[in-house]
Amino acid sequence: NEKHIVEENSKDQQLAQFRVNNYGTKMTTNQSVKVSEDEQSLKAGIRGPTLLEDFHFREKITHFDHERIPERVVHARGYAAHGEFELYESMKEFTKAGFLQQAGSKTPVFTRFSNVVGSRGSVDTARDVRGFAVKFYTEEGNYDLVGNNIPVFFIQDAIKFPDLIHAIQPEPHNEMPQAASAHDTFWDFVANNQESAHMVMWQMSDRAIPKNFRMMEGFGVHTFRFVNAEGKAHFVKFHWKPALGIHSLVWDEAQKIAGKDSDYQRRDLWESIEHGNFAEFELGVQMIEEKDEFMFDFDILDATKIWPEEVVPVKIFGKMTLNRNVDNVFAETEQVAFHPGNVVSGIDFTNDPLLQGRLFSYLDTQLIRLGGPNFTEIPINRAVCPFHNNQRNGFSRQRIDVGQVSYHKNSLANNTPSTSTAAEGGFVHYAEKVEGRIIQARSDSFKDHFSQARLFWNSMTLPEKQHITEAFIFEVGKVQSKSVRQQVVDMFVHVDKAMATTIADAVGVDRPTGEQSTVTASSPALSQANTI
Ligand code: HEM
Repeated sequence: NEKHIVEENSKDQQLAQFRVNNYGTKMTTNQSVKVSEDEQSLKAGIRGPTLLEDFHFREKITHFDHERIPERVVHARGYAAHGEFELYESMKEFTKAGFLQQAGSKTPVFTRFSNVVGSRGSVDTARDVRGFAVKFYTEEGNYDLVGNNIPVFFIQDAIKFPDLIHAIQPEPHNEMPQAASAHDTFWDFVANNQESAHMVMWQMSDRAIPKNFRMMEGFGVHTFRFVNAEGKAHFVKFHWKPALGIHSLVWDEAQKIAGKDSDYQRRDLWESIEHGNFAEFELGVQMIEEKDEFMFDFDILDATKIWPEEVVPVKIFGKMTLNRNVDNVFAETEQVAFHPGNVVSGIDFTNDPLLQGRLFSYLDTQLIRLGGPNFTEIPINRAVCPFHNNQRNGFSRQRIDVGQVSYHKNSLANNTPSTSTAAEGGFVHYAEKVEGRIIQARSDSFKDHFSQARLFWNSMTLPEKQHITEAFIFEVGKVQSKSVRQQVVDMFVHVDKAMATTIADAVGVDRPTGEQSTVTASSPALSQANTI
């Protein structure tokens, strides 16, 4: 069992100081008092009651009683590994992000893959979207790329996220089904929120049953911005491409594996890394110049649309290698806190209404999941560069801030900590032009729910189409409400009439009478768009 030596990076060195090994040590309480008895509690007489004054017993039981923290409200089941990101070529022309400047530079990363729907103890091979979250520990602070293995999303506006999740997670009255989308509320949501059509096509495809984490793509999904030192910006979409290619299970395999080894995907990642078969993914971006924002017949801020890669190619610029398993799943994988709002200078947001809501949600949920505002001090969440500000106190504060002053501006501490100018690396938000009236709507193209869903269907091979149709039959076939089954069939006729008809026959509803919608697929003045 040869151990593969991987050079320590700055994050490994930082974590090393927190590692504790119990082997060969004598037991103590948390107050470091040596323990003489750990099998019998203190009693009044040989057959008497246990005494409260047995502080070791009380401490041991109390600590055990408090072992659980809330699991993530979504993406509860996940598995993670450490690694590094190596830059192939400088991206200086497009972004000033420090970790993307010098070809050959390496940045420590921590990556957590996850299932979205099931609870922490659910099975790995469920038909589900997989999370693909990467924390880059850069010298300018933490940058999180919190993506999925499917490039689009179910909804267009964050205000609908609680509705989506309430529909897809187990139903409230009987808490079934666990980790599956084969139920009434999910399909009722789909049929009544038809912007989900494109994502549902991906979810019914083999992409939603990846063979393992090493063989799936990752996508930032949203449109972000790269901003260079001159302040010039490009719209970007992030892509992870697995070195081993994309491979999926077939549904029959996925179900059998679920019974035989519910840890199938985490076991694959753990064992591959232990055996030196490191997981590798190349990172790239699709880029669109700001002036070309409106060149497409879809809105580039709509998270239910892809940018076709044949029109806007992916520029690969680096590679991530996951090469070290965690020492402790709770300390690292459970306590890690990803947040799409964690960006560094040179990477910025856009007005994608789904992204905008995410920027609020992650910190908010982590405040309760990780017990208050100091979770950035948990070892796995610490940046590798120091932090200085005037925040103070709160539950479980680790740091001992020294000094009289905790406000800005001040004269008593010569105005420290002071702010940085852009030239000194201070984060300056992109000065995007904003105009218009306050309104609760989006561009008309947000209403085109089927063009890209149909493009996706038409790009599939025959076996892939069969798998999608069978997946619909399996999932929708389990829906008890005939009305919901009918609504689903009537909806997906807009993707493909033959597919919807086959599903209708198999799930016992009327054949759809509607027609495939005639909206043409996304093909704008695309060819004229000045893409990079
Ligand atoms: C996890 C909210 C959409 C990817 C989470 C968590 C919340 C959340 C509350 C749990 C975080 C934690 O407890 O640490 C939302 C909201 C969304 C949204 C409100 C839409 C408005 C998305 C999208 C993606 C995504 C579009 C992919 C691009 C992830 C991933 C995780 C996650 C990968 C797990 C992170 C980890 O491994 O710890 N999301 N999410 N989410 N979300 Fe989202």
